Amino acid sequence: MALLELKNLHVALEDGTEIVRGVDLAVDTNEVHAIMGPNGSGKSTLAYAIAGHPAYEITEGQILLDGEDVTEAGADDRAQQGLFLAFQYPHAVPGVTVTNFLRTAINSIRKARAGGVEDPLPVKEFRNELYAQMDRLKVSRELASRYLNDGFSGGEKKRVEILQMAMLKPRIAVLDETDSGLDIDALKIVASGVKELVSPSMGALVITHYQRILNYIQPDFVHVFVGGRIVKEGGPELALELEASGYEQWEKVAA
Ligand SMILES: Nc1ncnc2c1ncn2[C@@H]1O[C@H](COP(=O)(O)OP(=O)(O)OP(=O)(O)O)[C@@H](O)[C@H]1O
Ligand SMILES: [Mg+2]
Repeated sequence: MALLELKNLHVALEDGTEIVRGVDLAVDTNEVHAIMGPNGSGKSTLAYAIAGHPAYEITEGQILLDGEDVTEAGADDRAQQGLFLAFQYPHAVPGVTVTNFLRTAINSIRKARAGGVEDPLPVKEFRNELYAQMDRLKVSRELASRYLNDGFSGGEKKRVEILQMAMLKPRIAVLDETDSGLDIDALKIVASGVKELVSPSMGALVITHYQRILNYIQPDFVHVFVGGRIVKEGGPELALELEASGYEQWEKVAA
């Protein structure tokens, strides 16, 4: 059984509009899955539903994490069980510095893993790890003491999402268009940051519009997502095919 399994997942907005219309997907550790699809097809909605965003209602189907049904679980529970979502549009959190945000997140995951007992990462160890990861991902150290995403450039926000991933060490990472808005150098750094983490302890679901990032993070599977459904699946060659042919042939099928 794969670490993350979606079974016939249907997701609706608060007004009842169905956006995700029956998705089956299994993502295991040591695997990279890419989801590619046109604007408005429901990719971010799927990502939010996986992460447990309360505004997106799962109306049918199941989400299993490590065999456990987390369909009804809150976002915190899912994060504690090793699920991580890098947002397409990261929100600013004025009043909370990057450092404090990360320390709180790490310590709450550690607490959950220690069966509810406080088990904070020693401050010095945390700092060393934070600075090492920031240097590796070429995130300016100045950002550590700034409020999360507050006034960050588009590229800084995306790098800080990957910094969070590197610090939190999830088992499944969902990256929603982390490549959008990155310059070429940043794209390579971010892609190699993801690639290094994909291992027997982590798998990744990479939502993207562009083949480019997939040159750096070779996907094992590519899923074409149109009209709230996966309409075709294949290997890395499918991403290249899409770049040439677009989505038109499937849009007719999905309508
Ligand atoms: N909170 C919301 N309120 C209203 N409509 C929403 C909401 N969330 C999503 N939608 C709608 O659901 C549809 C799918 O949106 P979603 O963001 O999931 O698409 P996407 O595939 O991620 O697109 P993109 O490639 O542009 O990021 C869109 O029509 C969008 O307007
Ligand atoms: Mg989106």
